[in-house]
Amino acid sequence: MGALLRSLEGKRVAIVVGSGGVGKTSVSAAIALSRAMEGGRTLVCTIDPARRLATALGLGSLGNAEALVPAEAFARSGLAPKGQLFAMMLDVKRTWDDLVARHAPDAATRDRILGNRVYQQVSGALAGSQEYMAMEKLYELSTERDYDLIVLDTPPTSHALDFLEAPDRILDFVGNETARKLFAPAIDAGRFGARLLQAGTGFVAKTLSRFTGSDVLSDVGDFLGQFQGMYDGFKERASAVRTLLTQPEVGFVLVASPSPLSVDEALFFHDHLRKAGMPVAGAVSNRVTPDLWPFPGGLPGTEPVAEALAAALASAGPGTEDLAARLALTLQEHQAFARSDAREVERMRRGAPGPHVAVPRLPGDVHDLSGLAALAAHL
Ligand SMILES: Nc1ncnc2c1ncn2[C@@H]1O[C@H](COP(=O)(O)OP(=O)(O)O)[C@@H](O)[C@H]1O
Ligand SMILES: [Mg+2]
Repeated sequence: MGALLRSLEGKRVAIVVGSGGVGKTSVSAAIALSRAMEGGRTLVCTIDPARRLATALGLGSLGNAEALVPAEAFARSGLAPKGQLFAMMLDVKRTWDDLVARHAPDAATRDRILGNRVYQQVSGALAGSQEYMAMEKLYELSTERDYDLIVLDTPPTSHALDFLEAPDRILDFVGNETARKLFAPAIDAGRFGARLLQAGTGFVAKTLSRFTGSDVLSDVGDFLGQFQGMYDGFKERASAVRTLLTQPEVGFVLVASPSPLSVDEALFFHDHLRKAGMPVAGAVSNRVTPDLWPFPGGLPGTEPVAEALAAALASAGPGTEDLAARLALTLQEHQAFARSDAREVERMRRGAPGPHVAVPRLPGDVHDLSGLAALAAHL
């Protein structure tokens, strides 16, 4: 077992963060798989699995439903887990609706908000919405279910800090700070009659311009009024969610590719986690180009290539005199990438002290259980 998985051994929640495309979803699923292999009951809550990975995990189109990865799927990949792996895909809209239902004082208010078109259009598109709903779902799962480990994958393209600022943004929203600013033009427009949203090109104006003027105004009014009444409930909940993120049973996992920008972002996030008192369990440098010099006895997946090359060199006939020279050039180019990656891996290791693992670029995409197991072997 690698340094990261060892560091996560006592944890009940792992939150995987990093910039877009670095391998967060893959690492999240690999962590959950690994604990399930050893006998744990684990859940990976993901946001944007690639279609093939979603299929491999048995995730259909159902959002917010926890699904057990079937034994046959493991058997097909030659794996025999001692525990159970569950997977789910976060449905941001449904999580918002559940939250509104939880805080609405009565069924009539709940239905009125859920049916409000301003709420429907704005809630899912609000900045920080995905991030906050991911935390909210995590809170619900960790307090209401009995998994040994829940792994939370985080949204695809966000800047890392969006994740930490999300609760404040949502509270601003619920407390109508954001809403008042957003809707001020619409309210003014109503008051002064005709110039209804003519000049607006922003998201809200575009959204609102789909309705007729008087409908907008009554929907905006309802929206502002009814959310106001739920502010205290939302605030309490957001504070409980934030407290969960500082508990010792939680571990943040930073993932970065060996590129300067991605490492910068991971280290920036690392700093903010520390300042916010949120425990970092470890860091992953993912898709690292391995150093091939001196040859470390071959990498997984290179053997057939090596054999084919040896055969080609042995039987090199006319016209192939420069084969060795071309191979040398390829190796030099490879080594240039490896050196540059090694520098970034080192920067990550020094900037985020604690357990750190470097995962090589694997021969194929990580799109099934065997791929996840191969990735987990490096964690
Ligand atoms: N170590 C690795 N080697 C090869 N491919 C990888 C590795 N890690 C991730 N991938 C691939 O990179 C792509 C992006 O990974 P993903 O986990 O979806 O990133 P993110 O969730 O951060 O956007 C996917 O196609 C995945 O299969
Ligand atoms: Mg992802």
